[in-house]
Amino acid sequence: MYPLIRNRRLRASESIRRLVRETTLTSDDFLVPLFITEGKGIKEEIPSMPNYFRLSLDNLEKEAKELWNMGLCSMLLFVKVDDKLKDNKGTEALNPDGLMQRAIKTVKNACPQMLVMTDVALDPFSSYGHDGIVAEGQILNDETAELLAEMSVSHANAGADFVAPSDMMDGRILTIREALEDEGFLNTGIMAYSAKYASAFYGPFRDALDSAPVDIANVPKDKKTYQMDYANRYEAIKETQMDIDEGADIVMVKPGLCYLDIVREIKNEVEVPVAVYQVSGEYAMLKAAAEKGWLDHDAVMLEQLTAIKRAGANIIASYFAKDFIRIFR
Ligand code: PBG
Repeated sequence: MYPLIRNRRLRASESIRRLVRETTLTSDDFLVPLFITEGKGIKEEIPSMPNYFRLSLDNLEKEAKELWNMGLCSMLLFVKVDDKLKDNKGTEALNPDGLMQRAIKTVKNACPQMLVMTDVALDPFSSYGHDGIVAEGQILNDETAELLAEMSVSHANAGADFVAPSDMMDGRILTIREALEDEGFLNTGIMAYSAKYASAFYGPFRDALDSAPVDIANVPKDKKTYQMDYANRYEAIKETQMDIDEGADIVMVKPGLCYLDIVREIKNEVEVPVAVYQVSGEYAMLKAAAEKGWLDHDAVMLEQLTAIKRAGANIIASYFAKDFIRIFR
């Protein structure tokens, strides 16, 4: 006797597969990370991130318009800061005329409706390459949270729609939320990097911003005292729940692919939108394998992005956003 149910009926043609497909991607799913640098006419490729660039403000303006025309309406900004401007407290981060503040204004002038999110952490501004202030071999928590709150207010003042603290200090979401409210930025949102793991997949990003922790005495060589241990699951839920209680509008899991179990658990647990950051190392791996002809770039990209959404991502921060739209939409 043949089975009454033959699952292959629902796979028999591309049309039926399309009809029953549970997960599809659109331009609305993406948040586009962008790297900004000083200068004019600059579009420099990041060696460990093929076909991804650092842009000067004039090119950022062009990029914003291009993204908007492709239906990509949200971006996440990062700045590469001149070494001369770096110090332990990331003082330059608060400069009202700093690169980030000018980048926000550039995008908002060119493309007023573009949603602008900004990275909030000290590392691109820190002479030690840490997300917080370093003192006696430690990363100071509360002093750093205060600085991040000032930085957030400065970004909101320049026109940012959302600030995205990526530092993993304890209590920083509440400190930031209170500072924004005190300054009248009631509608500035917070996307919290809630479950951010101490991952080796951030390597190419640190090349892009020249932001890796420095190798000098009495400075921690990694970020393991603040970013999470990748062996841990329950802790991710605790971190995320705390961020929501402190006022996060959107929570994030980072990196993506190796952490999709965490994404699903958090998605099942919380009511706020869940973002996933498919990070630089994930991008670099596929680009490298594709360059060698070992993987089919477009097919693997689609499979990976679909898996991230299937796991529960409402928002995907990805360096593949433009590639995806060009190839599949
Ligand atoms: C910095 C920050 C990092 C990333 C986003 N914000 C690097 C780090 O924590 O060292 C990584 C993004 C990527 O690898 O694509 N706070």
